[in-house]
Amino acid sequence: MAELNELSEKIAKIKQEVQNELEKLENSKSVYEYKKVILDGKTGKIGSLMKEMGKIPNEQKADYGKKVNELKTWAQSYFEELDAKFKQEEMRRRYESEKIDVTMPAKKHEHGNLHPVTQVRNQLTDIFASMGFEIYEGTEIETDYYNFTALNTPQDHPARDMQDTFYLSPEYLLRTQTSAGQIHVMEAKKPPIKVVSPGKVFRSDDDATHSPMFTQMEGLVVDKGITLCDLKGMLDEFVKKIFGKETKTRLRPSYFPFTEPSVEVDVSCFQCGGCGCKLCKGTGWIEVLGAGVVNNKVLEGCGVDTNEYSGFAFGIGLERIAMLKYGINNIKLLFESDLRVLKQIDD
Ligand code: DAH
Repeated sequence: MAELNELSEKIAKIKQEVQNELEKLENSKSVYEYKKVILDGKTGKIGSLMKEMGKIPNEQKADYGKKVNELKTWAQSYFEELDAKFKQEEMRRRYESEKIDVTMPAKKHEHGNLHPVTQVRNQLTDIFASMGFEIYEGTEIETDYYNFTALNTPQDHPARDMQDTFYLSPEYLLRTQTSAGQIHVMEAKKPPIKVVSPGKVFRSDDDATHSPMFTQMEGLVVDKGITLCDLKGMLDEFVKKIFGKETKTRLRPSYFPFTEPSVEVDVSCFQCGGCGCKLCKGTGWIEVLGAGVVNNKVLEGCGVDTNEYSGFAFGIGLERIAMLKYGINNIKLLFESDLRVLKQIDD
């Protein structure tokens, strides 16, 4: 009997201790920790009461076990109740802190776009690539020979005055035209040749429509039986793709030393359809590029047999195309990197 009395005392003590202790706990984690101290099968205070069963006389074992089990059930429900209370509170706090206001305006992600000249360059490259042109990128520093002499513009030729050149030395210069690429291509490759060559060019020229650095795309086709008609046919296709299906071309006689005949190419005004507006200055036509049949002197200088081959060439100013397409009236707007301007142009 002594053991059972002793047990009752121990039980009362444990109950008291649990009640005291649980009042101090503040969250479900500490409930979990303390639960181990009390209920763990091996080391817990209640668990270890069970281990003493061996010392209890046989006739008291049943009572002893029953009392310990009652204590265990009491403690378990006590812990569970407290645990549920804390968990509910913790969940409420978590919901509170993670609350999302679905009516809040979304964060705006700024996205960049390509520079208008790069957009035009990409569009032209795609169009010419679809027509079977290869791309050749030359160098910005050229020799006088490639930029002028080989293009039938020797020293003292009056056509040199057409382009105000930045010389780096008597021999080297910043290329004034991507036409220099024609010579490199013909030196490196036998006909048939079909290339476009985009890149920066430089001239000492500066006003609302000219900048000391600008971008051109050169085209060169050399093959058997090439005539001005092939140039016209190709240009007709090209302008429809870049300015719209209704666009027509018109060739006007011009002069370039490296082409004979040379032409200036106009397109029917894509804004007024040819009736005359501000963009086409009332003429219905807009000048877009220079072109011509490659001068035999240029072909021969590159070792091309002119009895067998002929060619056409053209040169397009990309800033000019960008200005026409996007309604920009001052070339400086393309170089000032003003986001208010650039953001409006995303083709
Ligand atoms: N290189 C000339 C310029 O910069 C443009 C040009 C005209 C290129 C006629 C050509 C061409 O290939 O055939 O003004």
